[in-house]
Amino acid sequence: MPHKIAALRVVPLDTHVRKSSQIGAQVILPDSMTLFTPQALTENDTHILRQALFDHGVLVIRGQLGIAPQILSEIAKVFDPQAKNVHSGGKMQVTDSKNILSQNNCSRIPRAPQVTVIGKGDVEGYEGIPHLELKHLDQSSFHEHPLSDDEIERGCTRPYRWHMDAPLYESLPGFATSIHAIEVPHVPDQQLQFPDGKSMPVAAGATLFFSGARNFELLSPEEQEFACNTTVQYAPRAYEWIRNCKASADGLTIESLGREKAFNELLEWNWEEVQAFPMVWKNHGNGKPHLQILGCCVYSLTTTDPVTGKSIVIDDIQEVRRICYSLQSKVYAPENIFAHRWEQGDLVMFHNRGLLHSISGQLSHYPDKRLMWQCSMASGALPEAYNITGA
Ligand SMILES: [Fe+2]
Repeated sequence: MPHKIAALRVVPLDTHVRKSSQIGAQVILPDSMTLFTPQALTENDTHILRQALFDHGVLVIRGQLGIAPQILSEIAKVFDPQAKNVHSGGKMQVTDSKNILSQNNCSRIPRAPQVTVIGKGDVEGYEGIPHLELKHLDQSSFHEHPLSDDEIERGCTRPYRWHMDAPLYESLPGFATSIHAIEVPHVPDQQLQFPDGKSMPVAAGATLFFSGARNFELLSPEEQEFACNTTVQYAPRAYEWIRNCKASADGLTIESLGREKAFNELLEWNWEEVQAFPMVWKNHGNGKPHLQILGCCVYSLTTTDPVTGKSIVIDDIQEVRRICYSLQSKVYAPENIFAHRWEQGDLVMFHNRGLLHSISGQLSHYPDKRLMWQCSMASGALPEAYNITGA
């Protein structure tokens, strides 16, 4: 009898880790595979993996030190038949100091230009990159009222900025983002802060996630109908536009109006390339509705009355932010947040079109380094709007 080769398995994480987040599963590779190789998966394994990402949002494969960086870009094809062969952030890393996305000093890997090195600390001669001064961004540089020194001393932390990996200009966001942990800091757990004085213990530097499907569930029927009939227009060169803006304490929105760049101060742009997406996206794997809004980057809303069919544009930015915040802030509670506790060797894949994610952690007072690879490939497919009428 030939030896039976165990297939790839997906094991949802413990209930006390998932809580009500609807997020998190571990992937156990087939017996024949030690390091993840998407191209070597059977058709059935690929199907299981693909469905698991759409159902569980975040998939973790442990013990993957030694994979080639190219594997991260190959992952996109597993989930997205229209994945392009370029990082959604563009062919090259954003290095323009006027863009908020350049602040972490990350760099692309020369032998895998779709993969970005992110982390914290100085690294010499890594992957053909002579010198890296990686910066772990935290709330202190972006929140209107950052944590006090005393709060940081006591181990408090917050989400830096909730987002999808989406440039919102030219390139469409990828279906999946992958992150591989090469070096993980050993820092005591910190306390993630919530409104009303609640907190939740998280690993220092945990990546935070919430599900757009869970968020949609938490809306009232009226809010669900509004969201399903609304399109979100993002600002031109949105990350440059908000470069001087400051966020709310939960990282969901911009706290106050007034520091946005004038449109004529931005790098050259045109409206055809500026993206507008449905407020509610249909899950590619299970058809569920996901509320997907990049709250810090919104510019206007177009909403259609389902009875009259008449559309109106809401373009008062403060009102646009208020509406988006009123919908998204419902999900920001400990039971809905999944915080990934990084272990060296982890390969994490997450459903970029079904979750929002954020950096957390106050690491700057510690000498520990952090080194990770990140990849989010651009897609050729527009997000599909969820149709509440089921038509
Ligand atoms: Fe991200």
